[in-house]
Order: sequence, then C-alpha cells, then structure tokens
Amino acid sequence: MIFIGDLVHCPSLGKLEILRDHVLVPGNDISRIPKGTFLLPTFCDLHLHAPQFLYQGTGLHLPLMQWLNEYAFKAEERIDNDPDLAQRVYSRLARRLVERGTGAVLLFGTIKETTNLILAQCMIDAGIRAFVGKLSMDRSSRPTYVEASAEISLAAAASFADRCASLENMVDSHAGLAKPVLTPRFVPTCSDELLTGLGRLSAERGLLVQSHMAESLDQVEWVKSERGMDDIEVFDRSNLLTPRTIQAHCTFLTPSSLCKVAERGSAIAHCPLSNAYFSAEPFRLREALDNGVKVGLGTDVAGGYDIDIMGSMRQAVAVSRMREGARLVHKVAPDAIQESKPLSVDWKEALYLATTGGARTLGLGEESGTFAVGAAFDAQCINLMNETTCQGTGPLDFLDREHEGMGNWELSDELIEKWWCLGDFRNRVSMWVQGKKVPRTRCDP
Ligand code: GUN
Ligand code: FE
Repeated sequence: MIFIGDLVHCPSLGKLEILRDHVLVPGNDISRIPKGTFLLPTFCDLHLHAPQFLYQGTGLHLPLMQWLNEYAFKAEERIDNDPDLAQRVYSRLARRLVERGTGAVLLFGTIKETTNLILAQCMIDAGIRAFVGKLSMDRSSRPTYVEASAEISLAAAASFADRCASLENMVDSHAGLAKPVLTPRFVPTCSDELLTGLGRLSAERGLLVQSHMAESLDQVEWVKSERGMDDIEVFDRSNLLTPRTIQAHCTFLTPSSLCKVAERGSAIAHCPLSNAYFSAEPFRLREALDNGVKVGLGTDVAGGYDIDIMGSMRQAVAVSRMREGARLVHKVAPDAIQESKPLSVDWKEALYLATTGGARTLGLGEESGTFAVGAAFDAQCINLMNETTCQGTGPLDFLDREHEGMGNWELSDELIEKWWCLGDFRNRVSMWVQGKKVPRTRCDP
C-alpha cells in the first residue's frame, strides 16, 4: 500500500500538523486520496464497559453507587449467563466502534472468563485493537455476581491473561490485536489481598492495569469510611499505580494527587460525559496535562451514553471552557496553576488526546497515534465532501467548490476544525489497523 494525499496528525499536545500531498508507504499498492479527503490516525477509547453497551442510556438519574447496583451489575451478570447474548452484544459493539473510527479500545468486560474471551474474539474479528479486562471483584452487593475469594479471583485473572494472549483470528490470521488487562473494578469491590495480588501479577508479567479512581462523591466517601484513606493511597500501596496503569475519571484528585500520578507514570482516561452525570466535579484536565500526566479520552459507555469519541472530544473542550469561565467570573485561582494559563483546552488539544495521547497510554510506542516513521499504520480516511460538513456557510463552502472545481483546493486548519465540530460517522470512508483495512458492515443481523 502507498497512499498519496493529505495527512493530518497531532505529534504533540496542541500541535496540529497538516502534511499536504504526502506519500505514506505502509505497503506497496498505490492509492491516491482525492482532494477533500484526508487521513487521520484512528481514535483510542481508553474506557468502555462492553457489557453495558446492552443498556446504553438507561437510569442515569441515579448516583453512581446506586446505578451500579440497579443497572450495571445486573446487566453484566445477565451477559455472563448467556453466551449467545454476549456474542450478539459484543459483535454489534465492535461494528459500532469501527463505524466511529475507534481503532483501539480499552475494555472493561465481566467476571467470567469465557464471556471475556467472546469479547476479545469479537474485537479481533472486527479487526481493531482491543485491550480486554476480565473484571476482578471479590466483594459485591450482588451475591450472584462476585468471585468467591481473593485467591480464586487472582487465579482467574492469571488464567484469562494466558488465554486471551493466545487467541488468534481464525478468519484471516490478523492475530495479536487482543491483549489482556488486569481489571480490579474499583476499590469498593476489591479486598486488599486481591489488590496486592494483582499488583504483583502485573509486575511479574508486565500486564497493563485499569480501574476507576476518585470518580464520584458517594464512591470517594465510601472508600474513605471503609478504608480510612483515599483511593489513590489504596492503589499505590498495592503497587497498582505504575507506568502500566490507566485509571478512569480521577475527578476528585487534588493537584498534589495528580502530581503523584505523574510521578508514578500512570495514565488517566478522561470521560467528560460520564463525569457530568456521576461526578460532582469536573476533571482537572489542564492541571493533569501541565503536571505531565499521560491522558487520553474515554466514552465510559454506559456511564456515558455516547460511543463516539468525537463526542468525548467535544465534551472535553466544553467542560474545560466552563471551568475557565468560572475562574474568570468568580476570580478563583485554582491551586498550583499559573494565573495566566487557561484551564480550557482547544479542539487541537482534544484531537491529540483522542489519537496520540490515547495511543501512548496503551504502550503502543512513542510514535503511536501519528504518521511518524515507525508508527503502526492505524488510520481513518475522512471525506469532507459530505453534507455533514457543508452545513451553513463559513470559510468552507463545498457546494460552491463543486461548481468551481477542486483545482486549487487546499486543506486548512479551519476545514479540519469544521469537521471536528460538525462531522460524524458519515464522513468516515475507511479505516486501517496495523496496516490492514478494517471491513465495515453497516447493518446489524
Ligand atoms: N465504578 C465501578 N464500576 C463502574 C462502572 O461500571 N461504571 C462507572 N462509571 N464507574 C464504575
Ligand atoms: Fe467506567
């Protein structure tokens, strides 16, 4: 494969690079991208609960701990007890992710090994990178949805890691795209013995770890009263705050705790839509970035109801702008940040988080999420010549262009911004992961 055309990527935070009419050589078939389309690295979703796709957009009026008991645990248990349902839900989820340009996804699954293997296989079959977390939880409000002891839970985590790592795609041998991730659900559902054991397992095998940290008021208060300390201390003393760790949310982390996350080299999955429902506080995104924390974006389906990372990008910008607005209006200077520096992030920074930022947290390499030499070819082709980006008037008037021809047409920051604001899945023409075209099926069985 050889591509000739416009490439767009974000090599560093806030930097958008348009590589006009470039030649990209991931293989040896030549393909010229027409004017009005460009290649962009695929999106990374750093936090998604696969079984909760079943009931996306339900019960969000409840506080987190109640929502988990009344919806999440029940739905997950249902999927664990019905492999056919798991297959249907997970294959549909995989198709939706492809449609939305998500080329790599960090997933929370369920407790049962076989169900998580179905999940991993569905993602492999769809052709995307999946980091699959078998849930570890030896405490729960539901006696029928819990592991019997820390020992049993640890053995199950190790067994899943082995079996997931050895999965191969029977269809077209696009192997190696599913990786196991140790997944202590969150502090309230894990004993100290389980957490310490998972910390040890991660160190021994170099496995990634994911969890939820400092997410909501009811959860933070629960941990404080039961454990006498904050989430971050519980994770840290269990050796679960390492460069292999990705923690979702972290809305209740103070600036000094964010420094600790940075020191440990851990990453954060920022899920702004979910935060708006479950977290009383917005995530301190600018402070995290300034402190050098690795950050990417997550949808947190079904705490967030939208599976599209383009939604997460827009929400991240909107929330950060409200934070900056509140600072200006109320003249509150947040701790440990220079007065002059805005708390808001812009669309280019959000695009970085959705691509390069996410890819780097997943250990895909320093160049990952960009078109630099040595990066895996994970790309999506975006067509701007679509009515989604032709709405209204403005700097971009494609309808006129159709009459004038595309002779001196040139891709610009403004055109990409317009797509970032108005575009949707209809602009996505095709996608590749690890240099291979990802098939896209629009209709569900
Ligand atoms: N904390 C523990 N489990 C969950 C979950 O399923 N969703 C969210 N948003 N937070 C959690
Ligand atoms: Fe979550």
